[in-house]
Amino acid sequence: LESGSLSIIVLGASGDLAKKKTFPALFNLYQQGFLQSNEVHIFGYARTKISDDDLRDRIRGHLLQSKGSSSSSGQSEDAAKFLQLVKYISGTYDGDEGFRLLDKAIHEHEVSKNSQDGSSRRLFYLALPPSVYPSVCKMIKLFCMNKSDLGGWTRIVVEKPFGKDLKSAEALSGQIGELFGEEQIYRIDHYLGKELVQNLMVLRFANRFFYPLWNRDNIDNIQIVFREDFGIEGRGGYFDEYGIIRDVIQNHLIQVLCLIAMEKPVSLSPEHIHDEKVKVLQSVVPIKDEEVVLGQYEGYKDDTTVPNDSNTPTFATVILRIHNERWEGVPFVLKAGKSLNSTKAEIRVQFKEVPGDIFKCKKHGRNEFVIRLQPSEAMYMKLTVKQPGLEMSTIQSELDLSYQQRYQGVKIPKAYERLILDTIRGDQQHFVRRDELKVAWEIFTPMLHRIEDGKLKPILYKQGSRGPVEADELLAKAGYTQTHGY
Ligand code: BG6
Repeated sequence: LESGSLSIIVLGASGDLAKKKTFPALFNLYQQGFLQSNEVHIFGYARTKISDDDLRDRIRGHLLQSKGSSSSSGQSEDAAKFLQLVKYISGTYDGDEGFRLLDKAIHEHEVSKNSQDGSSRRLFYLALPPSVYPSVCKMIKLFCMNKSDLGGWTRIVVEKPFGKDLKSAEALSGQIGELFGEEQIYRIDHYLGKELVQNLMVLRFANRFFYPLWNRDNIDNIQIVFREDFGIEGRGGYFDEYGIIRDVIQNHLIQVLCLIAMEKPVSLSPEHIHDEKVKVLQSVVPIKDEEVVLGQYEGYKDDTTVPNDSNTPTFATVILRIHNERWEGVPFVLKAGKSLNSTKAEIRVQFKEVPGDIFKCKKHGRNEFVIRLQPSEAMYMKLTVKQPGLEMSTIQSELDLSYQQRYQGVKIPKAYERLILDTIRGDQQHFVRRDELKVAWEIFTPMLHRIEDGKLKPILYKQGSRGPVEADELLAKAGYTQTHGY
């Protein structure tokens, strides 16, 4: 990291996102030596009036849990040292007083650390609901910007949901855009920080295998699937207002689609990558009602945080079609659901059948390339081989790259950890640019409005099932054929 004082300010410090994701990610970075310079300080900011120690107590358990193992004494010691870096300031999200105090505290830290080069770097992480983004950004701009003449920066990190539809998202972008330059705004989509999502460009553009096959001549259909085997668990206040399309599909899955479908960027510079993502999104044609299946799991409305007349989908299968030379005619099936039979995120690229087959092996199914984002990162290719033995018969088998086996002992960084480090380093490659976000909203807004108007309704499905059978039927219509083996 660059030298100079670094202040990381987590706004919404006592909320769930901060406790479960932001602070544990900072702790992981600390443990890897990234935040150990004495010029680094972390501030928590929220409305609740609590002390530094209260905040530390609230965070501590999450830090130790985040390692997924029992809390060894070394871990506890590290956590204690890390927590000493964390100070707390309470204040409102729209008044001067708290932000003046915050600025003073940051400034005191900067001066006391007497940073080597006198520069000041301030990273504001908004772990907050988007309704307060505009006022918080305004307060930061008024009171808390880097004031050093000797260099540094001020950056802000914002989380989804960025708005509820095209109009509200554009309004929000406009308000923030008046205060900060695009190079200061980091719109986080944590799927872009996942190891196998970051691998997608390497896979496609650094291997000779894929390029000639990656098109409508060879690929029959592509699925991008997200499943969770648990429901909304008391998050109804948030979820019911947004639903699965805004929660997962419009952001996480659409970002994955971009990386699967875009053309090769001129270089790895963030601008070049964002340009290609925007282009492919602009080529998506309007979604047809008959290519959408929505679902709601039985019992969703029994959650006390959900209104009992809710029409909100907890499941959706949507077919996107890309009108360009590479993808015309290839359905991209985006599927996401809560309370299903498993927890998994994967990409399935299904190839066309071999023309003029002489082995009569179609019953084994087609070639399929699967990229499992989680759990247990893996890539495998289903292919037809000769059944070992005296007979000339064929079976389906796999070329399998399972990360756990192949990269034993290599720690795969958590998405938030990687992305926060990028914000400190000033690398926007794995973030969402304003126009990307706009096109993503353009794709989904008409459909979201039809759901709100009651013109598209969710079908009930059983908890622990695959979702509505209508979704499987739609998938079959899109051309997907079940393969065997894995
Ligand atoms: C979040 C959604 O963005 O992503 C949640 O709001 C979802 O509803 C979560 O559970 C999934 O993230 P991950 O990394 O566990 O797949």
